[in-house]
Amino acid sequence: MKKQNVVRKGLLRSALVLFLLLATASLFGQTIGDVTMDGQVNIVDALQIARAYVGLDPTPYNEAYADTNCDGTVNIVDALQVARFYVGSIDELCGSTETETPTQTVTPTPTTTPTAGTAEPRVDNPYVGGTLYVDQVWSEKARNDGGAAIADIGTFLWMDRIGAITDGIGLRGHLDAAIQQGANVFQVVIYDLPNRDCFALASNGELRISEGGMQRYQTEYIDPIVEILGDANYRSLRIVCVIEPDSLPNLVTNLDDPDCAEANGAGGYVEGIQYALDQLGTLPNTYCYVDYGHSGWLGWPDNYSQALQVIGNAIKGASKGVNSVAGLVTCTANYTPTEEPYLKNVSTEVIRQSSFYEWNTYVSELPFAQAVRQSFIQNGFPSTFGMLIDTSRNGWGGPDRPTRAVTSGSNDQIVDGSRIDRRTHRGNWCNQKGGIGERPKAAPATGIDAYVWVKPPGESDGVSTADFEPDPNDPAKQFDPNCDPNGQSSYGDGVLTGAVEAPHAGRWNTLHFQMLMDNAYPPL
Ligand code: BGC
Repeated sequence: MKKQNVVRKGLLRSALVLFLLLATASLFGQTIGDVTMDGQVNIVDALQIARAYVGLDPTPYNEAYADTNCDGTVNIVDALQVARFYVGSIDELCGSTETETPTQTVTPTPTTTPTAGTAEPRVDNPYVGGTLYVDQVWSEKARNDGGAAIADIGTFLWMDRIGAITDGIGLRGHLDAAIQQGANVFQVVIYDLPNRDCFALASNGELRISEGGMQRYQTEYIDPIVEILGDANYRSLRIVCVIEPDSLPNLVTNLDDPDCAEANGAGGYVEGIQYALDQLGTLPNTYCYVDYGHSGWLGWPDNYSQALQVIGNAIKGASKGVNSVAGLVTCTANYTPTEEPYLKNVSTEVIRQSSFYEWNTYVSELPFAQAVRQSFIQNGFPSTFGMLIDTSRNGWGGPDRPTRAVTSGSNDQIVDGSRIDRRTHRGNWCNQKGGIGERPKAAPATGIDAYVWVKPPGESDGVSTADFEPDPNDPAKQFDPNCDPNGQSSYGDGVLTGAVEAPHAGRWNTLHFQMLMDNAYPPL
């Protein structure tokens, strides 16, 4: 039910309406703002209005008392009004205070959107002193599936198609909710390049280079996002952007794939990323981190040095050159452990010669990310350059986690018995039986701006059956054989994918979510 706007200064009719409203309110012992109907207007009411606004279905909640600025609509401003009222920065909600009489004039609140925040000077590490926005939509799903212990953790919001900008509560709804929560860090993934996910199938996107995808990427995707993020209402937020997971790493190692080869040319990944960095870089409060794969991909010496060139040059080619980014992010949506505690006691030779590590220099993300940062700084990037590591699903706890290093046997016996990474092959990336990892944390180690949760736990990596219905939101998403629980991994001879059954990439998967919870490390 919507109440009409009762404020028409000087008109007898409005006074009468207000009188009736107040009379009705007091008749039922109720005041505007008291949506929980508990006789008080407090922060819980603000929260309930915000929850209703973002599409959750809060209880108790009576919408009849939610239009707290009497502008005829119920939106996030009403929640904000209640919060202001609660902390005493305003002393009345429209027509709500019991001291009012019908003859008093009620002044309308002029704003229809949250008040503009105050910009702060740029900081080096946006996570220091940061309060992360908790994605209300993800949080509700997590809570409903037994995830109360992690449901208040800030995750990234993925803008994974043009429609995501406005569908549901849309980007604006999330930003408004962030303001309402009192957050000052808003985390978003930019993920819609033409020929997206060129080497795999699970997350193929809506845009194609051959169909003018770059033009659409710029005008229908990046520009509207930047316009929304640039709204003065959001300038108090530090907006952290993760830029295009897996894209540039695919240009380092997968150019024999025709889709990736095309993405390496005009209208492809480099052009798109430079455009995104340039446009996002026009806003004073954005902090962009370009995706850098993970140690199990770019950790071999030849890949390592090539990635420095390819990805380093892509960033240097953006307008602000080495200052176009805050840094890089590794392990996005992957499962590689942050650290391999027991392999620290195993000799490097044994590790490199094992089947699992195949001569890769790096067995875990933290040393890889720190080394990459040093290499970038040596390559001309500033010392403020920082790294993020996505730790959302790289915990590897649970009953199968080793508790000490195995010290005797073959190289494989030592390594396989000691590693916490329980995958059948290190290349496996789809719906693995890992666990929730380190919780987001600012400045956890030298050179690391934060451990973050880029991939929201519970969201699928890809559909597990070839016999699938297309995802109506993203019909380009396909079945990738690496997501088949009974199939062979394409990364090693004779090993299974290790995937669990799952819906399309990005869709909620209760089975996987609960497995990740059970195998959390540190335990929950
Ligand atoms: C999917 C996206 C999703 C993201 C986060 C990606 O694999 O393609 O649609 O938003 O994962 O779950």
